[in-house]
Amino acid sequence: MKKIMIAPSLLSADFNRLAEEIRDVEKAGCDALHIDVMDGHFVPNLTIGPLVVSAIRKVTKLPLDVHLMIDMPSRFMAEFRKAGADWITVHVEAEKDVRGVLQMIKASGAKVGISLRPKTAVEMLFPYLQDLDLILVMSVEPGFGGQSFMPEMMAKVKMLRPKFPGLISVDGGIGVGNASQALEAGADILVAGSAVFGKADRAKAIREFREIFKKF
Ligand code: DX5
Ligand code: ZN
Repeated sequence: MKKIMIAPSLLSADFNRLAEEIRDVEKAGCDALHIDVMDGHFVPNLTIGPLVVSAIRKVTKLPLDVHLMIDMPSRFMAEFRKAGADWITVHVEAEKDVRGVLQMIKASGAKVGISLRPKTAVEMLFPYLQDLDLILVMSVEPGFGGQSFMPEMMAKVKMLRPKFPGLISVDGGIGVGNASQALEAGADILVAGSAVFGKADRAKAIREFREIFKKF
């Protein structure tokens, strides 16, 4: 049985009480904390920078899964690493020299991740499979939490699974109602914002996910 992981996305947390929110999901037994970084260019929203990531680093031992939805992530990658990011994911659409930025991440000692927008063909990732620890398949258009899951994106997971031995994560619109679809396709990690932080009882939310994981 493979280890399936749940990574709550901080985007749906109460930012007034960030430390408590993070401790809450850590105590509830999640596997990583997903942090959505947006620059207002690559996506039409602005969120978290390295300063906040370093503050988060101080309150948790969870792996920090930093999802960079920013143009030219090579400019900021090192700062996020210094701030405490453990896994760094960049978008294949966001950088000209994709291999270059992946090499930078690897050299920094972080786990190397790549992501793709719903409209981007999965074949775009094929040249880089050897360079990656993680592939983050977007199941919503990046930019906002709380959107509807796009089940047709699971075809990308199915295509990648036999070719890629590393971790495949699915991000966007995941809940207990569709988690099985992602897992059947071959996902290892589910990112969930509203389905965890949006619930009053996070421990219960994570337990419900784990019940589903047992079937895989
Ligand atoms: C979307 C982000 C996701 C999002 C997930 O741009 O990458 O991580 O916050 O939130 P939910 O689970 O609410 O779709
Ligand atoms: Zn994300």
